[in-house]
Amino acid sequence: MVHVVIGGQWGDEGKGKLVDIFSQKADVIVRYHGGNNAGHTVINDYGKFPLHLVPAGIFNPTATVVIGNGTVLDLEVLLTEITMLKKAVPDISKRLLISPRCHVIMPYHKILDSLYEAAKGKAKTGTTGRGIGPVHADKVSYQGIRLIDFFDPQILNENLEIALKIKNPILRAFGEQPLQRAEILKTKLQEFAQVRKFVKETYPVISEALTSGNYILCEGAHGFFLDTDWGTYPFVTASACVPATVTAGAGIPAQKISRVTAIVKAYTTRVGSGPFPTELINTTGDKLREAGHEFGTTTGRPRRCGWLDLELIRFMAQVTGATDIAITKLDVLDTFAEIKICVGFTYRGKPVHYWNGDAHWLQKVKPLYKTLPGWQTSLTDIRSLNKLPPAAQNYVAFIEKTVSLPVKMISVGPERSQTITH
Ligand code: GDP
Ligand code: IMO
Ligand code: MG
Repeated sequence: MVHVVIGGQWGDEGKGKLVDIFSQKADVIVRYHGGNNAGHTVINDYGKFPLHLVPAGIFNPTATVVIGNGTVLDLEVLLTEITMLKKAVPDISKRLLISPRCHVIMPYHKILDSLYEAAKGKAKTGTTGRGIGPVHADKVSYQGIRLIDFFDPQILNENLEIALKIKNPILRAFGEQPLQRAEILKTKLQEFAQVRKFVKETYPVISEALTSGNYILCEGAHGFFLDTDWGTYPFVTASACVPATVTAGAGIPAQKISRVTAIVKAYTTRVGSGPFPTELINTTGDKLREAGHEFGTTTGRPRRCGWLDLELIRFMAQVTGATDIAITKLDVLDTFAEIKICVGFTYRGKPVHYWNGDAHWLQKVKPLYKTLPGWQTSLTDIRSLNKLPPAAQNYVAFIEKTVSLPVKMISVGPERSQTITH
């Protein structure tokens, strides 16, 4: 079976925690898009791990984990992560496989990322600064450098020469120093030498798992509303965040997908710029940020916080074909006397939908709220749905009814055990 886990909002929904749980039963766990702009937190018996590239399934000792071709990599970040994992996962070199087709983030991608952001000024996207937009731009304009190029230093050298022929004039135009090929080559080849043993075509592993009917768990990154096409462009990321991206990013036929779990935080957060209709720029928003420890896993930036937005979730569910929902961080709402949920938008007094306009228009829509009573008691020790206080059960049921999808998991704390499955 192919099970795809996606972020249903603007990222940081708790995908890492849920993938860690699902992967206990999976045979192969695959990252298929995005890069080290992702930050997936796993807390389990081995400790606490902020993962940016290695799939969160690495802790299942019998599973193979794959960084698929659709993922972009910063080799330095990858190495740091592998080193961090060595103690908890001593056999990592036997179980981690990285596609040679992965594009590599080079020093100029990170510099260009920050130069583009600075040039946009107030209109900036608020990127993670990891070079994600520029590396994808090179990929689709046929100027990228892939891991496979590193196996032949002559090809790497030629590709880097072309890259710098294009990049250095841009850097100079921005008043930056041009980059030196020899220096980049030396550093990147040294890094590659340490990851080389993980790099091997991943298609045979995927294909064999598909043929044998194994459980393949696909770990989505970011969130649906950061998708380049369906998100709040230009306040998005550079990869497609829909489940069918597993075809492009890992070689898994879309029709093989049998389950799509959308991870939905019990409220909404967003890092970086862009419209956020239910954002709370007040003490309620501050309370959510504090209770939910809403600071970025990758950049440490405070996350913007607001109420749950079911106008967005309904659309996400329809476009992604999600089969079920996992609600995370329900415990963060424990102390609220009343909880609001957005059930629709209006624009100039008329009902509208998310897809009726662009990001600038979305800044101006007004959310319509339904107010539900809070439960005002701690959920963190509850392990079954029927033990949840009626107000919390009601909150979950309201989401199921409005989105027309079953809620199969409820997370009531960051740890593996703090989960209700039904
Ligand atoms: P991801 O990018 O979707 O994997 O999410 P992040 O790891 O960036 O952010 C989610 C944060 O919430 C992490 O710090 C998790 O440890 C934490 N977390 C996950 N689930 C829960 C939950 O149910 N309750 C609480 N309080 N924290 C959670
Ligand atoms: P995970 O997988 C939250 C956001 C950035 C920025 C925009 C573009 O941990 O949920 P980029 O660096 O990708 O060019 O930035 O996308 N963004 C995320 N926000 N969680 C993420 O990943 C994100 N990945 C990208 O904050 O607004
Ligand atoms: Mg994250």
